Amino acid sequence: MHNDISEIYFSEQDLADRVREMGEAITRDYAGVAGSDGIVVISILRGGAVFTCDLIRAIDLPLEVDFMAVSSYGNGVKSSGVVRILKDLNTDIRGRHVIIAEDIIDSGLTLKYLMQNLESRGPASMTVAALMRKNTENQADIPCRYVGFTCPDKFIVGYGLDYAERYRNLPYIGVLKPEIYQ
Ligand code: IMP
Ligand code: MG
Repeated sequence: MHNDISEIYFSEQDLADRVREMGEAITRDYAGVAGSDGIVVISILRGGAVFTCDLIRAIDLPLEVDFMAVSSYGNGVKSSGVVRILKDLNTDIRGRHVIIAEDIIDSGLTLKYLMQNLESRGPASMTVAALMRKNTENQADIPCRYVGFTCPDKFIVGYGLDYAERYRNLPYIGVLKPEIYQ
């Protein structure tokens, strides 16, 4: 598995430090609005799951976590733009303060669709926490309040991100050797 990685982009320590900072920022920003109902963190499966599990433990406020599964890639390396909901929320988010936890914004098409869909359910507020934002040309304009890292437009894996469902369990984020997917 490690042999398929050409370069480590974010080490285990980089990720831990940055995710803790993001949790602290969310804690500060939502301390006044969370109330006793708390916030709802919506984790976008499957890539966002690892990030979400670390992020929620860095947020020192009452919160609920729920999961949504969408597919936009198939098994390829580029977004198809066609988003399907594979698993919907169990939580009614009407009137709730929602934070969407996403692993990476590439074309932005997945989030654009998701935000429209979730907005129509009437949350009190909605923000996005993305671990990474790729430097992609023509990225959809996504208001993203919390961004962990910006990263170059290369295919990366680890810490939840996959190629053909593998590598999600790497504790760091690295660049996959092109010969693996070519
Ligand atoms: P978008 O719709 O193009 O913004 O793609 C978003 C989704 O594609 C993310 O939630 C990831 O699951 C996946 N994705 C985007 N870039 C990468 C990558 O470099 N490696 C693995 N998955 C990625
Ligand atoms: Mg994926």
